[in-house]
Amino acid sequence: SEKAAPEDLLFSYKGILYPTTVCSPETCQALDSFEARSDDVILVGYPKNGSNWLGQVLNDLEITAAKYTEQEINERMNISNELLILPRLEFGDPEKFKRMKELPSRRIIVTHLSPQVLPKSIFKSKAKILLLVRNPKDTAVSYFHFYNNMPTLPSFSSWDEYFTAFMHGKLCWGSYFDYLVEWNKHMDDENIMVITYEELKENQTLGLKKIADFFGFFVSGEEIQMVAEKSSFEAMKEKSFKTHGTFGKILFRKGTVGDWKDHFSEAQNKQMERKFEECLAGTKLGEKMKY
Ligand code: A3P
Repeated sequence: SEKAAPEDLLFSYKGILYPTTVCSPETCQALDSFEARSDDVILVGYPKNGSNWLGQVLNDLEITAAKYTEQEINERMNISNELLILPRLEFGDPEKFKRMKELPSRRIIVTHLSPQVLPKSIFKSKAKILLLVRNPKDTAVSYFHFYNNMPTLPSFSSWDEYFTAFMHGKLCWGSYFDYLVEWNKHMDDENIMVITYEELKENQTLGLKKIADFFGFFVSGEEIQMVAEKSSFEAMKEKSFKTHGTFGKILFRKGTVGDWKDHFSEAQNKQMERKFEECLAGTKLGEKMKY
């Protein structure tokens, strides 16, 4: 089906593009009216790094650890859905930040925003931040398919055209590389933990245990196992219509490591490796992301 013109689908705020269907300049401008709490659970990650996956994991860990009743779970989900917090902090209307005060702790907050754009109170509050990262090549491939399949994002006529846009950061939420360079400046902050998509794929239970320890979720090994089973790619894909509507089909695409090999030319592979080296070689984040 036909898509609207790119200028109708996107807007720019502080030099970074956002999709008009879910974000607005007013909401971006109101970000600093958000008041973070020290016990907020914050998940940050560039688009397509697995934030829907880990958002569910964090929500399930909190629900399990706090031993909510069925009714409390439903109430939490209703407000959370209404305020679009689990979807993304930057989605929805500017009033949401005031209404977020009504939400009981611990709030699970997911965002693609760069540290320069994130509400300042997040850093001041010392809320714990989990940075989810995924290797640049699979991120690029995942975002390519997402762009072309989402009616609300402009399409690219070819992989090569898209690749150039990715390398120049001309995509929603800006440059993947700038995003990592900015977060890399926070690697010595005591309240930040990094986890990679690849390590989670390799051993989800171990990854979830690290995450639970970091945030201080009191959950048993058995409970972690249960959360891991519920959040496997297959389980989430199967339920995707219920959880994400028609959007689910686009979102839960492949869920693998190494899909880039079917898309990249040798020259593109070299170009991206060079760019990654330029941006992150020898840094803490760069080391963590060796794959
Ligand atoms: P692919 O397009 O490579 O399949 P985000 O949620 O940040 O938009 O990221 C989406 C990517 O995470 C997609 O990658 C999607 O398939 C993958 N994903 C979603 N749920 C997953 C899960 N439970 N396990 C592994 N990968 C998952």
